[in-house]
Amino acid sequence: MPSETTTAQPGDLLPEAWYKGKTINIDQMEQRIKMKNIVIFGAPGSGKGTQSDKLIEHYGLEHISTGDVLRSEIKKGSELGKTAQQYIDQGQLIPDELMVSILAKVYDGFGRGHKGVIFDGFPRTIPQAEALKQMLSERGDKVAAMLELDVPEDELMKRLLLRGQQSGRADDNEETIKKRLVVYHSQTQPLIEWYKQEGLHHHINGLGELDRIFQDICSVVDTL
Ligand code: AP5
Ligand code: MG
Repeated sequence: MPSETTTAQPGDLLPEAWYKGKTINIDQMEQRIKMKNIVIFGAPGSGKGTQSDKLIEHYGLEHISTGDVLRSEIKKGSELGKTAQQYIDQGQLIPDELMVSILAKVYDGFGRGHKGVIFDGFPRTIPQAEALKQMLSERGDKVAAMLELDVPEDELMKRLLLRGQQSGRADDNEETIKKRLVVYHSQTQPLIEWYKQEGLHHHINGLGELDRIFQDICSVVDTL
């Protein structure tokens, strides 16, 4: 008697109903299951950008830094840049609706074949986390892990003041750093609990040698 089940082969098309009304093949399905979408999370100066660079190199992931996107718009002098500058100079967050619309555009710009995206500096509020979850689920994707880089506040201040002297990032001055930290504690830190409830939170000690921190990150990412 012939078996009722068949083994799908790479390149086979899967029935429409298997994947939210879209026909995709086994290779694409496998790709999406393994996709490492990672939220790299932490206070200003915690090392999100630094560790993202290492993750990109090691795992070949894509990267969205909302801060970098905004700074590049400011440099171009676009309307978005002009709006963003007013908030950034005050250490405040850009309104959620604006950030969410930017994020979806950048994400879709990576196409469908990527190995995963590092979200650096996004989400920063609970509505942004909900919007990210929704945006990814509409595309059949999800966040695989949230990595919280935990660094004491005196170290954050030290790092950012040093960077302010070296690279002259406009928001790296004592007054604005203090405001950014207040905003972090009031609007962004509650996301730790939110991601714990999602079962996605991983704590990383972000103080110390770059390579040791990266090893700790890898030991999580390798399990995804
Ligand atoms: P953003 O650009 O994201 O800035 P941030 O969150 O304040 O974080 P930083 O980029 O300053 O720090 P980082 O964690 O990346 O650390 P880094 O690796 O650079 O956002 C800027 C602004 O844009 C926001 O204030 C807001 O106005 C707006 N914005 C952005 N996203 C938004 C959103 N989603 N919604 C609304 N508004 C948004 O490291 C810092 C320094 O420390 C570097 O000099 C580095 O070399 C050094 N360093 C790193 N690791 C170590 C280590 N282990 N030991 C010693 N030094 C280290
Ligand atoms: Mg950064």
